[in-house]
Amino acid sequence: MRELDDKVREVFPIIKNNDIAYLDNGATTQKPECVLNAVKKYYNEENANPMRGIYELSVAATDAYENAREAAAEFINAGDASEIVFTRNASESVNLIAYSYGMSQVNEGDEIIVSTAEHHSNLLPWKHVAEVKKAKVVFYDPEPAGEFDIDKLSALLSDKTKIVAITQVSNVIGRINDIKAISKLVHEKGAVLVVDGAQAIAHIRVNVKDLGADFYVFSGHKMYAPMGIGVMYGRKELLEKMPPFLFGGEMIESVTKERTTYAEVPHKFEAGTVNVGGAVGLHAAMDFIKQYGFEQIVARENMLTSVALDGMREMPYVDIIGGDMVCNHHGIVAFRVEGVHPHDVAQVFADAGVCVRAGHHCAEPLHRYLAQFAGTRINSSTRMSIAMYNTVSEVERFLDVLSSIRGLMGL
Ligand code: ALA
Repeated sequence: MRELDDKVREVFPIIKNNDIAYLDNGATTQKPECVLNAVKKYYNEENANPMRGIYELSVAATDAYENAREAAAEFINAGDASEIVFTRNASESVNLIAYSYGMSQVNEGDEIIVSTAEHHSNLLPWKHVAEVKKAKVVFYDPEPAGEFDIDKLSALLSDKTKIVAITQVSNVIGRINDIKAISKLVHEKGAVLVVDGAQAIAHIRVNVKDLGADFYVFSGHKMYAPMGIGVMYGRKELLEKMPPFLFGGEMIESVTKERTTYAEVPHKFEAGTVNVGGAVGLHAAMDFIKQYGFEQIVARENMLTSVALDGMREMPYVDIIGGDMVCNHHGIVAFRVEGVHPHDVAQVFADAGVCVRAGHHCAEPLHRYLAQFAGTRINSSTRMSIAMYNTVSEVERFLDVLSSIRGLMGL
């Protein structure tokens, strides 16, 4: 195990070479040299179209791709590598589940439960399924401080419930939801549970079997891997009964003019030339995370979050979404500054070289819902989000800027 300290920054070129405090890791993470090198090596030494050729390069590309699948299965403790489908990102993964499982299993009058805290990626595909299939999306509202009341969620479940789609860590609140408890309730009703792991995967150890997730999705780019590669994990018995989502090359067993039979899972869900370079980068990113281990990653990110929250607590004009307890934020702290629009807040940060995100963070229903408790009509917030390479001095730089904003605005 490598020790995780500030030295980790040395292997992230963008972080090392720029005088910025990069605190927008919820949007995307920077990439370490080992990931960049792995992608470069693949294109320099092994690139060919995988699964098609019998020559050496094509076999090497196929091996690289399938090894990445094995690594992803191991990383999340899937039962088998065939339960890992590579996609472009978490959004595409949810779309795959919605178009394939949703459209084939949801019928008129059925219900799909989503939480109001969902990113649009885990909401809009379900709204679309409900619209097409004349089903209903039922919203589960978290408590005002962001926590889930399992009893309230349980009361929404019924025999009509076919799918429950919930984030493991909200990209705004940052709180971990008790997926294990939720999966028990969902399965008691015979429904399936889709978990959005986009904001969890780089920050906590994920064990899909232990969680009881039927589907679990995430993007590579939020875990130090390149953009354009994502994962859709699905339990094999579900994947086997699902129709393909995209049709084309390499997802078939046989095609005649009259009839098509499809390839085995996971290949029936991976039409066309796949992103081997991305999968290789994802593999390297997973190995990188494993070198440090989640124990150290969680401890470091909690320590940094704690420095941030301690400082913010001293600023009464800062309203932290989800409260100021470290245990309720997994590297994500969204907030409002009284009297200053979140976009102006982010602009002041940007001018000072601190990278944060402002807006509704693709979680507009959540902001609208939370605004009523905060007594504001502002449906947006500013968000700082931490990764394993951030430092105490970056968080202090963030706090310095934060404390100056109202003064700069003449308040
Ligand atoms: N989903 C990303 C975020 O929360 C882009 O910022």
